[in-house]
Amino acid sequence: MKTIFSGIQPSGTLTLGNYLGAMQHFVQLQYDHNCYFCIVDEHAVTVPQDPIQLRKNIRSLAALYIAAGIDPNKSTLFIQSEVSAHTQLGWMMQCVAYIGELERMTQFKDKSEGKEGVSSALLTYPPLMAADILLYNTDIVPVGDDQKQHLELTRDLAERFNKKFNDIFTIPEVRIPKVGARIMSLNDPTKKMSKSNPNPKSYISMLDDEKTIMKKIKSAVTDSEGIVKFDKENKQAISNLLGIYSLCSGKSIEELETEFAGRGYGDFKEAVGEAVVTTLKPIQERYYEIINSKELDDILDLGAEKANQVASKTLAKAKRAMGLGRKR
Ligand code: TYM
Repeated sequence: MKTIFSGIQPSGTLTLGNYLGAMQHFVQLQYDHNCYFCIVDEHAVTVPQDPIQLRKNIRSLAALYIAAGIDPNKSTLFIQSEVSAHTQLGWMMQCVAYIGELERMTQFKDKSEGKEGVSSALLTYPPLMAADILLYNTDIVPVGDDQKQHLELTRDLAERFNKKFNDIFTIPEVRIPKVGARIMSLNDPTKKMSKSNPNPKSYISMLDDEKTIMKKIKSAVTDSEGIVKFDKENKQAISNLLGIYSLCSGKSIEELETEFAGRGYGDFKEAVGEAVVTTLKPIQERYYEIINSKELDDILDLGAEKANQVASKTLAKAKRAMGLGRKR
């Protein structure tokens, strides 16, 4: 059985992009893989966070994982900072990574450009991500398109460590979905949908109510052609809505193009909105049932315990390989 690892930052309510590009796939994968899903709070603090809000976001993300269908009997769900091997191996991976390759990461460039007081941890974010993945002998990492470069670096760091010290790490493969790998912003389809965008109209939050979802989809930018057709080059906004609709309804893009041939964008947007509402509603219902439950704490306690067991073994091997500590 293959091992899967992926993580999501608790840096605000998740967007429809996080769900369609990542979380939805996690749920499918857990039925025939050994899965670890992580709430990467140590990654979140690489940029300023309000401590009270961060705690809320961590719990909210845990509840969303469960509400979306992560089954704690099948998957290990845990909080990164509750498994100390992550920062320990993260440090060791920093010692293997070169400053130049970290400075080339587009996420680092985007998040640091023009900013003052950029934390050193924002630069060393990818070695921590590599540690997350390598601790569990991960075979496959399902992520959206924006994480591809980090995954390539993870593979390089693992190979470098194996060559320099001892062959202990499994080299992970990245898995990016064919449709939905990059859900775009609703008001600017050249940018990815992101929870850090200050304009809430640009994204759909997984917890937006029905009215808000319909309003946001209806105000999404389109083009002046009035034709519902998938064309990523020339019709980015409509192609994005078609992708969202297809993933939420289970219908293919071709089917949807036929269904909406000769009909205007008004009808189309109404249907897209309804499909999004139908997808998110059951998740939201379950979310509000469990967000304050003890069950959620029990799941996270058990997850941390299970993750710790596996992670501490890999950490011990990596320390031995690097010559850290004493011989026992
Ligand atoms: P994060 O928290 O930004 O996003 C979580 C997941 O959602 C995907 N995603 C999207 N997919 C499609 N369209 C979008 N608009 C969109 N926005 C986000 C992301 O690709 C990701 O899969 N560095 C990671 C977290 C991380 C991690 C890891 C991931 C830390 N350690 C180890 C995998 C393995 C991040 O910031 O994801």
